[in-house]
Amino acid sequence: MLPLAEFRVLDHNAVALGTDLGELMETAGKAVADALRERFPHAQHIIVACGSGNNGGDGFVTARLLADAGLEVAVVLAGEPRSAISRRARDRWKGEVHPPQALAKLLSGADVAVDALLGSGLRGELREPYREMVTVLNDGPTVVAMDVPSGLGLPEAVVPKLTVTFHAMKEGMDTASCGEIIVADIGSPSSDELHFIIVHQNFELWFKLVISELRAARDILDRDYVAETRIPRAVHHLRRVIETFRLMAQQWKVMETLTPQDFLNFRDKLGTASGFESLQMREMEALLGPQLLDGKPREMDGPAEPRPLVAVVGDWLARTPIMGSAPGDAGDDAVVARFIEDYLAAHAMLGAETAERYGGSPKVRARFAAEAEGAREFFADGDRVDRARAGLLFIESYRELPLLAWPRRLVDTVVELEQQMVLWRSAHARMVERIIGRRIGTGGSSGVDYLDMTTRYRIFVDLWAVRTLLMKKEALPNLRQPNFYGFAGES
Ligand code: HEM
Repeated sequence: MLPLAEFRVLDHNAVALGTDLGELMETAGKAVADALRERFPHAQHIIVACGSGNNGGDGFVTARLLADAGLEVAVVLAGEPRSAISRRARDRWKGEVHPPQALAKLLSGADVAVDALLGSGLRGELREPYREMVTVLNDGPTVVAMDVPSGLGLPEAVVPKLTVTFHAMKEGMDTASCGEIIVADIGSPSSDELHFIIVHQNFELWFKLVISELRAARDILDRDYVAETRIPRAVHHLRRVIETFRLMAQQWKVMETLTPQDFLNFRDKLGTASGFESLQMREMEALLGPQLLDGKPREMDGPAEPRPLVAVVGDWLARTPIMGSAPGDAGDDAVVARFIEDYLAAHAMLGAETAERYGGSPKVRARFAAEAEGAREFFADGDRVDRARAGLLFIESYRELPLLAWPRRLVDTVVELEQQMVLWRSAHARMVERIIGRRIGTGGSSGVDYLDMTTRYRIFVDLWAVRTLLMKKEALPNLRQPNFYGFAGES
């Protein structure tokens, strides 16, 4: 038997774990209405005495259900409902609500009274108007108490014929103080449902960390000038995000201990609630940047981030010194254009050589020519060169240069981050397929098909695309101003 205080804690925990208290109130009210009709089948006139706490809210639900079942019901209210869920229960009651002074008169014509005054919510002494109402209830017809008789343990407590108590017996309850006792299971989460809720909440906690790390990395890089010495710190934050996603991808295994049948047992309770509603997931996505598939953006609601990581990384790449020339240097445009021209020429030649090695049929040649054309388009920005893409190509191509050591590390880290996120999404889809098969999701999407489609989107599109265009070292254009990059090679 648990002390009353622990039951209050249980309620708080149930809410923290995602249980809907309004739903619990509905089930509690129904348990009392059902018990009353079963034990007193001839009762027609019912008075429900409601307090201002949640016990009173339960009472309003009982009143509504009994009235719906065709009984004559009146409610006497001790004080205005204090919680939102009790107010909601009161608003759904369409009958009359009488003041405490009306209780004695109403009881004179009633068959049964319901005590929904205080339940386990009582602390200390009975105060007015409760004290008076308890006395009047005890002078009236048969009383059914809701959860525990009001004033239980005090000399002036309600003495009911029947008590319908929730979850389990509470301290101080016996047949002398409560009459017959029915323990009603009002649907605290099953262990499977609890598992489902706890796994979700674990993810949400990790999401919180991811958001804070992404923001820290973004803020380091979101400057007009980022000193080389600051880059390791940005990499440090992003690496933490990578490891968190790696861990989260494993966490689906804990979710998978739920069998399809276990899940079906509480799936209806979820209604239309789904992963779509994870605000933190949307915040993470917004911090990273828009997701694209074949050049088209993914349609999503949610917050937009003015400076997502993808934009910040793009601006930083655009400042990469190329062949010793930085933006703003005299002749920089020409240096960058020359680098890209030399690169594309070498790339096209390499492609042509490979086409010949593959047999040189017109079809194969056309394929390599199209690839060369694609490369040209990738770097074109109107009639100039896209400097961010050129910078990215430069870092990837001359990645062993000492000055590029941290920039290439940053690029690698961002690629790994997106890779890890995709793996996490894909592991979610495999878990979902195992548990719900190909059925429609609670959020109304096509389920696994939808989730698989999300694994094809990319945010750091350029970082992935440039990989297709890279060439072996000996084919690269000669490096100019190698000393600029701290490289003691030939000039
Ligand atoms: C039995 C467990 C689970 C099942 C069957 C499941 C199923 C689904 C389905 C079918 C969708 C697609 C949207 C829809 O129509 O509902 C979805 C989306 C989502 N789920 Fe789950 N899920 C489960 C557990 C989790 C957990 C533990 C998390 C962790 C936070 C989570 C996070 C998400 C997110 C963030 C989305 C939105 C994905 C997007 O739009 O990119 N899911 N889930």
